[in-house]
Amino acid sequence: MQKSLPLNATTRILSQFDQDERLILYHGDTNELIKTIPDNFIKLIITSPPYNLGKAYEDRVSIEKYLEVQTETIEQLYRVLSPQGSICWQVGNFVEKGEVFPLDIYYYSIFKKLGLFLRNRIIWHFGHGLHTSKRFSGRYETILWFTKEKEYTFNLDPIRVPSKYPGKRHFKGPNKGKLSGNPQGKNPSDVWQELVTEWEGCFWEIPNVKSNHIEKTIHPCQFPVELVERCVLALTDENDWVFDPYAGVGSALIAAIKHNRRAVGSERDSTYVDLARERIDSFNDGTLRLRPLGKPIHKPSGREKVAQVPTEWSSSNQARLLEEKQEYK
Ligand SMILES: C[S@@+](CC[C@H](N)C(=O)[O-])C[C@H]1O[C@@H](n2cnc3c(N)ncnc32)[C@H](O)[C@@H]1O
Repeated sequence: MQKSLPLNATTRILSQFDQDERLILYHGDTNELIKTIPDNFIKLIITSPPYNLGKAYEDRVSIEKYLEVQTETIEQLYRVLSPQGSICWQVGNFVEKGEVFPLDIYYYSIFKKLGLFLRNRIIWHFGHGLHTSKRFSGRYETILWFTKEKEYTFNLDPIRVPSKYPGKRHFKGPNKGKLSGNPQGKNPSDVWQELVTEWEGCFWEIPNVKSNHIEKTIHPCQFPVELVERCVLALTDENDWVFDPYAGVGSALIAAIKHNRRAVGSERDSTYVDLARERIDSFNDGTLRLRPLGKPIHKPSGREKVAQVPTEWSSSNQARLLEEKQEYK
């Protein structure tokens, strides 16, 4: 029987897995932690794995070697996943010499071979980012959501979003004239834009944008807590276990405990482990700043200075600027 937590109680952090506890942050290799978790135990595995992109925390290897190592870990994650459970695997592209390798396409076959069922390929769309010059600028990453079995937990009501046209009515049939929507809102769909806002800087490393997000730490690839919250609310029930095998600065763990779920994570970098602990402590004492779930995206009014065409680009100046460019070619 799983214990539930009294409201407003503080969740203490353990460093080794213990199924009678509520929050475990293991400092070390995820494969070592997974060995200590029982079969069919975790309701939601949600993670953004290392991307093989040569970030501070990873050594760049060939894509084949990378996927081989990931396959071994995923086989073990499958073992610990509960029969009603889900895996949400968030990835972007691996880019080598300008060639794009969409990681979700490679991962799809790994999960399919294990017999998992794809429920959504969620597009996480970003408004801004780096501008590439030899291909279209990338503006999304994906989350592959798989379930272990055909029966699985999916709670739509806690994650509904406001309808665009709440007053819409059926225009024919037996319900003609009656309201067609749900007063609690609509399904958020598989394109997640409302979660992006200022976040893109984290992926594209634009310093001024990066420093704008209230949750940002020094981690180069941190999840917004809000993104994990949606998965936690939809794919688990209270007191279920949520596991992030590549926990970074603990965003998934925070999203889980915020909604009275149990959380386990592993992270091998001690700086990130320390930061995750600090963030969890701040969450527990109510001082952690989080972007509220479902907060609307900032839409420029057009009056902001950055939203206006600069005087240097006015039509009279444009011809001169082009001429100058030609001179330097
Ligand atoms: C893409 S980041 C995840 C960030 C995380 N979602 C967050 O919100 O902070 C991947 C993390 O996995 C960690 N990592 C890489 N290989 C690992 C392994 N074998 N075991 C545990 N952690 C690992 C890296 O140090 C890095 O912090």
